[in-house]
Amino acid sequence: MSIEDKIKRLLDKREEAKLGGGQKRIDAQHGRGKFTARERLELLLDEGSFEEFDMFVTHRTTEFGLANKKYLSDGVITGHGTIDGRVVYVFSQDFTVFGGSLSETFALKICKVMDQAMKMGAPLIGINDSGGARIQEGVRSLAGYAEIFERNILASGVIPQISAIFGPCAGGAVYSPALTDFIIMSDQSSYMFVTGPRVTKTVTGEDISTEDLGGAQIHGKKSGVAHFIAEDEKEGISLIRKLMSYLPQNNLEDPPIIENNDPIDRTEDLLNQVIPEDPNKPYDILDIIHTIIDDGEFLETQRNYARNIVTGFGRFDGMPVGIAANQPNYLAGVLDINASRKAGRFVRFCDAFNLPIVTLVDVPGFLPGSSQEYGGIIIHGAKLMFAYGEATVPKVTITLRKSYGGAHDVMSSKQLRGDINYAWPSAEIAVMGPAGAVEILERKKINEIGDPEEKEKFIKEKEKEYREVFANPYEAAKYGYIDDVIEPRNTRFRIIRALRTLATKKEVNPPKKHGNIPL
Ligand code: HXC
Repeated sequence: MSIEDKIKRLLDKREEAKLGGGQKRIDAQHGRGKFTARERLELLLDEGSFEEFDMFVTHRTTEFGLANKKYLSDGVITGHGTIDGRVVYVFSQDFTVFGGSLSETFALKICKVMDQAMKMGAPLIGINDSGGARIQEGVRSLAGYAEIFERNILASGVIPQISAIFGPCAGGAVYSPALTDFIIMSDQSSYMFVTGPRVTKTVTGEDISTEDLGGAQIHGKKSGVAHFIAEDEKEGISLIRKLMSYLPQNNLEDPPIIENNDPIDRTEDLLNQVIPEDPNKPYDILDIIHTIIDDGEFLETQRNYARNIVTGFGRFDGMPVGIAANQPNYLAGVLDINASRKAGRFVRFCDAFNLPIVTLVDVPGFLPGSSQEYGGIIIHGAKLMFAYGEATVPKVTITLRKSYGGAHDVMSSKQLRGDINYAWPSAEIAVMGPAGAVEILERKKINEIGDPEEKEKFIKEKEKEYREVFANPYEAAKYGYIDDVIEPRNTRFRIIRALRTLATKKEVNPPKKHGNIPL
């Protein structure tokens, strides 16, 4: 064979691989409004940066007539490329080949990029669109999944891992994305569940559609499994690129600082008026976040899940930070099971990847009730406390209004090693709110007053007295629990100065195998 023929053979093989399961199946994929595995990588990575591995891999199965049914690449496209010039390792499941189902060789290909990502200290991004374990391969497929799971686990906290779900992701296959840091789902075209509608109906009798059981909206709102819901794949991919812009390559590097043109000393007079006079009136914490960060650019995670706490990424003077903030606009910003889990995981992610944490506090306490107690709010609230308490990244806390009871301690308080704790003059830091306190402290006297009007007057007076003495920032500031009471309009500058000062912070936890976070 001449060299020309040999090169032609190579090029022909490349063309064959690029066709995946064939033009008909590619057309069917497009017909559903979906991109192919390779098209997704083209959109994700910087132009011309993708280098593919293992294009010529095929499966090794002979059963079920598969000996002669082989496709180059075997249903998953793997390799590396760059996002904004920074290296990432990728895999993208190809639904046109055996429904993107996972064979032994398919798993080996993914493991190869995972191993390289770990060696190189570069993020891993996986795009999922698969019918699950390749049925014809039996236990070899299950073993392949477990090889991937183990690598996900070992990579956790070392390199950022991001999963996109752009099609089916069912059965045990869901556990690889679940072990990664962020899950992005495309609306109406993806689903995730451990057990699908058919088995659910057989076992429990429940009749439920695929979308209602594990569609993007469900995981965005109800389960909290998905961190981002994208309108379509294009938006999903641009979200991944945006998310990457806040993250370091690995746990030993700092997040990338970008040039900032938003003045660091920008004061915002509106902030002086933002807290309503009536302590029970809500306001939108997102307005405050947008006002203080660079250019109002905030990437919110789990936007529609546990809306009583807001989490996401922003920048101060070009430095990426994680922001966690109680949301008075939803359930008065109370801490409940879901909010504690959401923020706890977010805080731990930030700590693992050297992102400073800015916490904005307006929390009336923990949500009371049997459903919360039976659901284990004790354990879940402890998760958030554990996460803040063990975090060694710079922690800046601003108390805007309420900070009551156990929730005060939890929300990055001084004693949980908060580095800089500021309060606005509107802050109320105490064991509980005036109404609750008066009811307990003055119960006897209140019961003794017969006339309802007199009673009301007495209660109001006592509440005022309590508010003046305890429900303000100066009690806490008196003991140094609050480092300074700041004018709201200066908040942006004060945070930036705090973060700059804390940039050289070094804090190390006691040596141990690992802590025992209340899971
Ligand atoms: C082998 C599979 C396959 C699988 C799909 N295909 N799933 N081949 N193993 N798991 C093939 C089909 O035979 C078909 O081949 C092509 O992929 C497209 O599938 P369709 O059914 O035509 O497509 P669609 O109607 O869109 O349905 C997609 C689907 C369905 C919902 C994913 O195929 C499906 O339910 N598949 C089985 C899912 C499943 O039960 N997997 C195992 C789960 S358990 P042709 O040649 O016709 O194009 C699991 C355990 C993991 O994953 C364990 C980890 C611990």
